[in-house]
Amino acid sequence: MAMLGYHHPDYKRNTRGCNVHFPYYHSLKDVAKFEARPDDVAICGFPKSGTVWVCSVVGLILHDADPSFLLDGPPLERKVPFLEYCTPLLQKGYRGVDTLEQTTGRRLFFSHLNCDLLPPSLLTSGAKIIYKTRNPKDSLISLHYHHMARPASDYHWVLGQMVDDYSEDTVPFGPYFDHVASFWKHRENPNIFFTSYEALHKNHKKTVQDFAKFLNQPLSDEQIDTIVRLTTFAAMKENPVVNRIDKVAAGIFNFNVAPFMRKGIPGGYADDLTQPQIQKLDNWIALNKKREDLRGMTSLQDY
Ligand code: A3P
Repeated sequence: MAMLGYHHPDYKRNTRGCNVHFPYYHSLKDVAKFEARPDDVAICGFPKSGTVWVCSVVGLILHDADPSFLLDGPPLERKVPFLEYCTPLLQKGYRGVDTLEQTTGRRLFFSHLNCDLLPPSLLTSGAKIIYKTRNPKDSLISLHYHHMARPASDYHWVLGQMVDDYSEDTVPFGPYFDHVASFWKHRENPNIFFTSYEALHKNHKKTVQDFAKFLNQPLSDEQIDTIVRLTTFAAMKENPVVNRIDKVAAGIFNFNVAPFMRKGIPGGYADDLTQPQIQKLDNWIALNKKREDLRGMTSLQDY
């Protein structure tokens, strides 16, 4: 069984009995202690599914479309903490949960965790969750380039390994379809909004309007247009706040190998995957689409 090299040897520990592969630089112990507040907003989804994009849009919505939220100040990751992240790499002893606990006012953060591993209060406190899917064939290509751009990654740039990890359900934060199902089982919860990378791409303005409505943030048409203008792929590609320049400066990423804002389209996987790789992934996707616990999850039908 192939497996990406960046798993902690104990990656299955502390997963509350959940069959989840977990990368080493995240702390479930911290997350278990985290207390959600009723006005929290969490952006959830698998890695490389457009997290920064949705965080940018939602951050602007919560700041009444004030452009300075996205154009000025510290990198977006400091404004929108990563819930389960804990690493001494960037900032000694940095923990997403500590940052959030010290935050006054409305908190916006993101997580890649399976819903079963999130702090239970997130689902009961009235906090809002936006859950996004992305075609796993595209997110795996995006993850492939993400690791290529990380000099310290144990990943050896072998795309076939990434394909195996996704389709054999050993990818960190996966299995992919269990992740989707863990949120989908809460679809009756009015505080969870389901969306997709593809929806945001196809109907940018409408999706921004839907997010604003879900978050009870009344915005004028002009404000919605501002948010759309600031969050196009072209605008974000030119924006240092979203491009992780602090991590480049710290040597964590080398975006000359592959930029963060890389391609930004649905279906781009076809340029990188071989036909047998696509077939392997399609077989895996077809099998999972039939799952009873994913019935009605319409975004999966396009993958
Ligand atoms: P690609 O590598 O396919 O280009 P995440 O934020 O979860 O790490 O996801 C990163 C992916 O989202 C990258 O995909 C990136 O290009 C894409 N992305 C970010 N902002 C985007 C935007 N405004 N429009 C389209 N895609 C965007």
